[in-house]
Amino acid sequence: MHVVITTLPGDGIGPDVVAEGTKVLQAVGQRFGHTFELHSALIGGCAIDATGTALPEETLRAAHKSDAVLLGAVGGPKWDNPEAKVRPEQGLLGIRKALGLFANLRPVTLHPRLVASSPLRPERLQGVDLLVVRELTGGIYFGDKRREKNDNGEEWALDTCTYTTGEIERVVRAAAAMARGRRGKLTSVDKANVIETSRLWRSVTTRVMHEEFPDVALEHILVDACAMYLISRPAAFDVIVTENMFGDILTDEASMLAGSMGMLPSASLGAVTSKNGARMGLYEPIHGSAPDIAGQDIANPLATILSVALMLRYSFGLEEEARAVEEAVYATVDAGTVTRDIATPDEQPSSTSAVGTAVAERVAVA
Ligand code: IPM
Ligand code: MG
Repeated sequence: MHVVITTLPGDGIGPDVVAEGTKVLQAVGQRFGHTFELHSALIGGCAIDATGTALPEETLRAAHKSDAVLLGAVGGPKWDNPEAKVRPEQGLLGIRKALGLFANLRPVTLHPRLVASSPLRPERLQGVDLLVVRELTGGIYFGDKRREKNDNGEEWALDTCTYTTGEIERVVRAAAAMARGRRGKLTSVDKANVIETSRLWRSVTTRVMHEEFPDVALEHILVDACAMYLISRPAAFDVIVTENMFGDILTDEASMLAGSMGMLPSASLGAVTSKNGARMGLYEPIHGSAPDIAGQDIANPLATILSVALMLRYSFGLEEEARAVEEAVYATVDAGTVTRDIATPDEQPSSTSAVGTAVAERVAVA
């Protein structure tokens, strides 16, 4: 297989971890006989510095022409002013929208060594294996916004949240298909007791599931209760589907189940198929740009490497290759070759590049 991948290292530790992701990709290519043609482009703060915009035309063109995108992270104190006209986050939101990536998959699993790093008691974490499917191109993130002054000079602001039936249907279908391949349970999260878009969400979800996925068990829960259940009974969840902002908030909460954000990958998928027959997707670690440790070769590259595994699986249909990467990651962690965020007190932490190399070597020889 020959595929074209755009890499968007971005800011902070983005370049550190993307370098390790591509190292592992090359190892997969060698072992399984694939060619991964990589092209790097600018996004976020570094793009603002170089071009004045967080998502340059050239980056978007490169992404459109490729089979998948691997992203590091965007943002940092240098561009932190929320009042600024151009902000790094616009790059991320812009590329998700432009590529039509409406389904954001955020799996949360727990490696046994991380149980101690989670703020939750170990018995609560037993059996945690959930997948949040977050709607990514609609809702309040992309609705009309305004900021004005009223007649007596007081400032007021407005954000609007809209969802169409079609936007709900497609993400629910994507989530239900995932549930079918897992434990057959889908939890739809909304605020249907208050919000109109949530009422539409609930009725569309009920219909789609009834008509197309009668074999998948469906439950509806309110977002506030979901926040509580994620802590009180996290192992009861299989697949969660929810709208954009609820998904943003709940996935940060869910990441704490895994002990470290440094281990969690994500995939954003759309309906578009590239020229090569790949399902276009954007893959990124869920952690941010961690500017305080950027460029020091100490960031944990495993979330990015696990995102590469998701790319192999979802965009290219390379299940065996995806598993090879995941197994190499777990073996590397088991061997104690880990960065300081997950090293135990008696372990000598390894560098970012040493961890990446250890995974790549395991992939190459396995
Ligand atoms: C995420 C992030 C982004 C979001 C920010 C950086 C715009 O929090 O991917 O979860 O809110 O979607
Ligand atoms: Mg977030």
